[in-house]
Amino acid sequence: MAQQQDDVFKKIVSHAKEYGFVFQSSEIYDGLSAVYDYGQNGVEMKNNIKRYWWEAMTLLHENIVGIDSAIFMHPTIWKASGHVDAFNDPLIDNRDSKKRYRADVLIEDQLAKYDDKIAKEVAKAKKRFGESFDEAMFLQTNARVLEVAAKRDALHARFAKAMNDNDLDELKNIIVDEEIVCPISGTRNWTDVRQFNLMFKTEMGSTADGAMTVYLRPETAQGIFVNYLNVQKTGRMRIPFGIAQIGKAFRNEIVARQFIFRMREFEQMEMQFFVRPGEELQWFARWKEWRLRWHKALGMGDEKYRYHDHDKLAHYANAATDIEFLMPFGFKEVEGIHSRTNFDLSQHEKYSGKNIKYFDPELNENYVPYVIETSIGVDRMFLSVLCSSYEEQELDGGDRRVVLHLPEALAPVKCAVMPLVKKDGLPEKARQIVNDLKFDFATHYDEKDSIGKRYRRQDAIGTPFCITVDHQTLEDNTVTLRERDSMAQTRVNISDLHKLIHDRVSLTALLRKLAD
Ligand code: GAP
Repeated sequence: MAQQQDDVFKKIVSHAKEYGFVFQSSEIYDGLSAVYDYGQNGVEMKNNIKRYWWEAMTLLHENIVGIDSAIFMHPTIWKASGHVDAFNDPLIDNRDSKKRYRADVLIEDQLAKYDDKIAKEVAKAKKRFGESFDEAMFLQTNARVLEVAAKRDALHARFAKAMNDNDLDELKNIIVDEEIVCPISGTRNWTDVRQFNLMFKTEMGSTADGAMTVYLRPETAQGIFVNYLNVQKTGRMRIPFGIAQIGKAFRNEIVARQFIFRMREFEQMEMQFFVRPGEELQWFARWKEWRLRWHKALGMGDEKYRYHDHDKLAHYANAATDIEFLMPFGFKEVEGIHSRTNFDLSQHEKYSGKNIKYFDPELNENYVPYVIETSIGVDRMFLSVLCSSYEEQELDGGDRRVVLHLPEALAPVKCAVMPLVKKDGLPEKARQIVNDLKFDFATHYDEKDSIGKRYRRQDAIGTPFCITVDHQTLEDNTVTLRERDSMAQTRVNISDLHKLIHDRVSLTALLRKLAD
């Protein structure tokens, strides 16, 4: 990560803590690695993200309903889904630092170093040649760039083959041949590469025969698969239809990095869409487009998104793409859209011994439906919103502010009401306004410190509107309405406040954009 972006990210992390968005879990006990708690503002924003997703799924699609399945499930489910045997990461230890790494991540970092070298050569040449610089030509002809690119491509090919073949010895050989060192000890004293299953295990009940081993679910999707026929029958759903779920998932990630980007306990919003065999790729294309629209409707900048279509598909998928978002540490996956064929349902049919075929009345035929999955991490979505909203602004007169330009519908607090002074009946008038707005909007009352300081506090948590009550208010029932982003102040009537705020901050406007 470039140093400047690294610094910005550190500032965002400390801002998230200072303003009650995200805290390290168990902080007073020195923390628990890769586990985080959401504070008073964080939980509101997280709930708003979930509500936006849930309502976009269940209100805008007549054929999508929700469920809430348990975290614990029968352990055979994880055997059937392939997680017991194959939900692994390749790990390697450095004997000197005693630090553990993902072998694939060490190699990916090495690939990124080659890319950095090329980028540096380009930057140097740009400086040297100025206006006349032709980047495409330079990349094709510069000897140094070609040499580095050849090394990168050879490494990439070798790495992809090792991953495809599940060849752990070859991963170790690559680390040795590339002379990759441990970032902590600086040595190359590596152990062999081993597979590490990411599922957390625990025990349920206690019987004479011993307790049953159960897993904390590593994805919410399986709870949908094993309930699909219950929902279809009780809801009289007809294919195509979808089931949506929001819930916690757990993965014992070897390397947890980048704050809430990779956590050991996190939350997913997943939707499985059941379709006729043979129609799955059409539906995949539609969901790919719909999901990107959902993201873009938030107005954080269309250029911050890109698709990453997978070349290497899991054995059960026939198409897969990620929606990536531009974080301070590069474009990163926020959501995955997968065409999972009928793999999961067929496996559950096989392992449970129950018939879970759907009867299609139009075709007069029984079949195992195919599935398109959309799967987004709530916490990654939260991080993308936070990162893209954070700005340090220099203001006229030498003043500075930190402002979160949050999409207004996601902001934890929608408006703050402030009496200009703590006397002359202004606090009472301000309280009346709070009492009127609080039923529909998260509304703060603030009378402490100068008005400037109060505005800054609200800017820092991304409150779209501040409402100031002054002496004129007592005479004509008007207040000053200040907007977060432009800092523009307008005089408005108290009776207009509700509509003005609603039109900007409600989820409805956002959902309407999607429905058009
Ligand atoms: N059911 C499919 C599935 O779980 P995935 O790509 O492994 O697919 C889906 O995960 C999404 O869950 C990711 O795009 C990401 O947003 C989120 N996610 C996965 N692992 C995560 C972790 N360790 N911490 C935070 N979010 C994670």
